[in-house]
Amino acid sequence: MIVLAIESTLDETGAAVARLNDGRVEIISDIKASSASIHAKYGGVIPEIAAREQIASIIPVITEAMQVANTDKNQIDAIAVTQGPGMIGCLLIGVETAKALALAWNKPLIAVNHMAAHVFANWITNHESKNSGIREAENKVPELPAVALIVSGGHTDIMYLKSLTEWKWLGGTRDDAAGEAFDKAARAMGFPYPGGPAIAKLAMRKSEFGSQKPEWIKLPRPMIHEDNLEMSFSGLKTALLGITSSPSYVHSTSLRTTEGPSRENTIRALATEFNEAVVEVLVRKTMMAVEQYKPKSVLLGGGVAANQLLRKSLKDKVESRKLKLFVPDLKYCTDNAAMIAACALLRPEYIDPLLLKPEPGLEIK
Ligand code: KG4
Ligand code: ZN
Repeated sequence: MIVLAIESTLDETGAAVARLNDGRVEIISDIKASSASIHAKYGGVIPEIAAREQIASIIPVITEAMQVANTDKNQIDAIAVTQGPGMIGCLLIGVETAKALALAWNKPLIAVNHMAAHVFANWITNHESKNSGIREAENKVPELPAVALIVSGGHTDIMYLKSLTEWKWLGGTRDDAAGEAFDKAARAMGFPYPGGPAIAKLAMRKSEFGSQKPEWIKLPRPMIHEDNLEMSFSGLKTALLGITSSPSYVHSTSLRTTEGPSRENTIRALATEFNEAVVEVLVRKTMMAVEQYKPKSVLLGGGVAANQLLRKSLKDKVESRKLKLFVPDLKYCTDNAAMIAACALLRPEYIDPLLLKPEPGLEIK
């Protein structure tokens, strides 16, 4: 089966052509247009601008995906599209385009849950893993049951996957998502949207950092010692704001002093501390779920899964339990249509094109 998949949740417009090959998902083409650079100066995605960019990009992106795949519409077996969660104006563009194509080409339509798709990115073959420095899943298929940590800009969830279709929500954040926490922290530190990559880039490895981290740059690890799978990241932003408005921080970041840490070191110290705080909580809670549910593998997915410290720390912990961690290749962590195709191929949920409506608040299942 070959699907044409469409993704239009937020600030990325994606189209991909993919097929199933021996239980794995083979990507034939994967095209993406992003409006992130337009939102950068606003510190977050502006819904109206994002929706307008979706309209401008959707047809060119689909056309290119078909061309790169060298595929004719007659070779496509189904159209897949993200139904939600996401921004309503953005979702509408993808959903209406997919409905029109399904009706005009007389193809079945598959509705895809965006958050589930982040997990299905782990079934995509040809994981290059070159960029990540870790040879992850390679071409193996995750063994189920699995525990999955899904970390994106809007969601942070821990799921139990009994099979491809039977999923159970185990826990997640009470307030801000992990990616949202990164974005808010970055904004407070003066970096453009999306802030996760900026903070992660600045954060130093422990070995590089040594004793350079000033005493007063210390953030909490919210709920880390609580015996449940709940998380909370909104307090971290408040704690970070406490530091950025403190006299020590203002002094060392606004003046070039010969004594004490230089401006750049102070900013890097805060980025390092923030990165470690979020990652420690995510890893601890995921490992609690692993202890409790005894899965055969552990999966990571979502934009924050691009974070190298998270990839490395979780891998070390999971492997110390003699389990395998699956992490999507970097380009399949942040939003993309390849993962939508993967979800559609492995867990197809067919729907009458006339009945499909976008669901901005669709829950993961
Ligand atoms: O999954 P995604 O592309 O979009 C949503 O579905 O929300 O996730 C985007 C989020 C943003 O919050 C971004 O800051 C975060 O993923 N992100 C990262 C990294 N790369 C992207 N967070 C931490 N470290 C990164 N390297
Ligand atoms: Zn996403």
